[in-house]
Amino acid sequence: MNFGKDFLWGVATASYQIEGATDVDGKQETVWDDFCLQSRKSIDHFGGTVACDHYHRYKEDVELMKNLGVQVYRFSTAMSRVLTYDNSYGNTGVKPAVNQKGLDFYDRLIDCVLEADIDPWMTLYHWDLPLELERMGGFRNREIMYWLADYADLMTRHFGDRVKHFMTLNEMPCILGGYQGWMAPGLTINLREYLNIIHNMLLCHGNMTKVIRANVQDSKIGFAHCGLAPFPASEKPEDIAAFNRAMDCLESAPADYAPQEGSGLFFGSSLQYYCDPIYKGEYPAKAFEIFKDKMPLIKDGDMELISEELDFHGQNVYQGCPIAAGSADGKSSEGFHNIPFGQGKDITAAKWPITPKSLNYFIEYIYNRYKKPVYITENGCSGADLVCLDGKVHDEYRIDFTQRYLEELSKAKEKGADIRGYFHWSLLDNFEWKSGYNERFGIVHVDYQTQKRTPKESYYWYKDLIAQNRK
Ligand code: BGC
Repeated sequence: MNFGKDFLWGVATASYQIEGATDVDGKQETVWDDFCLQSRKSIDHFGGTVACDHYHRYKEDVELMKNLGVQVYRFSTAMSRVLTYDNSYGNTGVKPAVNQKGLDFYDRLIDCVLEADIDPWMTLYHWDLPLELERMGGFRNREIMYWLADYADLMTRHFGDRVKHFMTLNEMPCILGGYQGWMAPGLTINLREYLNIIHNMLLCHGNMTKVIRANVQDSKIGFAHCGLAPFPASEKPEDIAAFNRAMDCLESAPADYAPQEGSGLFFGSSLQYYCDPIYKGEYPAKAFEIFKDKMPLIKDGDMELISEELDFHGQNVYQGCPIAAGSADGKSSEGFHNIPFGQGKDITAAKWPITPKSLNYFIEYIYNRYKKPVYITENGCSGADLVCLDGKVHDEYRIDFTQRYLEELSKAKEKGADIRGYFHWSLLDNFEWKSGYNERFGIVHVDYQTQKRTPKESYYWYKDLIAQNRK
């Protein structure tokens, strides 16, 4: 498994999941504070209030990355730290004030990362929308494209001298999850509104891209996408062909992942509903046939804005499903079907099936379809890790998981897909959204009572792997 010297190795985190300090230095509430503290919809009702206290302990965390040997660090910034909103907009629109103390924190963090000889890759939006903006309609309001672009403007003017890699939105299908009940803000809406929200998210992405490009001419811009990452059920040519047909088909999301009307399409294997507008400047024609008058209102100039040129594609990959030839259940007329996992399948603590091949065919497909350099912007697994009597965290299963996935990724690279880097999710155990602190995704264990960090065995394994590949 050799990815070559130019391949970038990194780790990824997100602001709300690690920073804590949710009410210090002028930071305002986000939809997640509301979802956890008021609505009590996460297992841990304090949400990210303390989390890993990264706000105060970032130096120790950067030191951990430095010792690990990563070249790149993907992190996100909290809009609610750098901008403050009052609730008296009236008809004057949203005019936030800049919170200097929030900018100061990211100055300290970024300078520290650079001093460690690590390149900071900034994600501008990883789900922590200021609550005041949700009160104004959040992603249901088309105006959000201006709110997020103003924030991108502030961040790129301020940090663009030191940060060159930017990602606009993290995982649009999961932002949509906030309107399917299982993520903040925890609302449920109908299909027409889903489609409208997706259009608004795409407009946010386009408008942010435009602003970043104008402010930082030598920037590299992308976004981090997600979704089930299917793979052929076997190496037989007919299954590989069936997989490709499934990927081409807008309705290929398996029914198990479609608990609500339309949601399977968006959370499932439908790459193209989100990505065709971005890379090709149009929604897939089939979408108009399926959704008819429920499709969003597309105004003049929307598609041009959405398809602002990008430099790379970021894909977060955790799991997928096997696709085989033939339509076994009679549900599909396209000559493919997904094979349900049997009982006792291999799973992670999140109960997600372990499907290493998701990093092979699916990534190759993305590259072939859009021809953009691909970075795996997240991949990893959760477990119930503990510090053992010998003081170590024996997470061999995570080493095994990562090795299996990376071996498949290397195959896609060998086949010619332009894959340029891998960010492990995550550096630290952290606040895992609805599942609270019960799932540990880190390669560094965090004792939430003492905030002690203990590198797990996977940390040392990843360190060796990076060192070998950089030789
Ligand atoms: C998200 C992370 C999350 C991870 C594991 C991704 O969907 O971007 O924030 O912690 O998956 O659930």
